[in-house]
Amino acid sequence: MKTEFDVSLLPIYLYGSEVLKKKAPRMTEVTDDDIRLIQDMLETMHEASGIGLAATQVGELKQLLVIDLSDSDGRTEMKPMAIINPEIIATEGMVEIEEGCLSIPDIREAVKRPEKITIRFHDTTMTLQELTADGMLARVIQHEMDHLNGVLFIDHLSTAKRTFLKNKLRKIAKGEVDIDYEFVIDKKKTKR
Ligand code: CO
Repeated sequence: MKTEFDVSLLPIYLYGSEVLKKKAPRMTEVTDDDIRLIQDMLETMHEASGIGLAATQVGELKQLLVIDLSDSDGRTEMKPMAIINPEIIATEGMVEIEEGCLSIPDIREAVKRPEKITIRFHDTTMTLQELTADGMLARVIQHEMDHLNGVLFIDHLSTAKRTFLKNKLRKIAKGEVDIDYEFVIDKKKTKR
């Protein structure tokens, strides 16, 4: 991945934004602008102490996500990754793990998803790759893939649980959040 660009932090779209409900189209090429976007997304994610970020969360409707578990999962050999056009081709088992989301600050809830997954995706050279993952990596990939389909982790919760979170969610949608990263809430317009 090239790094000659100046990296800039991007505002993260919060819950309540229309763009978070949209399905992102597949990418057919990776332009210099996309490489820059990937660098910016990684920087934005690191600044916000996140381990995964979908392009949708910075208002870009593209099947693109970034992941960096290098500090949190004991997988220090793992480099930051950009995953393009991901598709799950196999799953194994189910497990409940607590999730959070940079677009839904201060809410963490247990979500049940496949424990082990195999995905097919394009890397930044548009080469088709396959990856089998379990543990936190499998979880982050699935959470971020949901974003590319306009789905949030809270959409997996029971109605009772969502009702319980209603006030907190309403506050987030109004921007009443105590976070140290830049955010936007866009109810009407999206960038594309
Ligand atoms: Co998220």
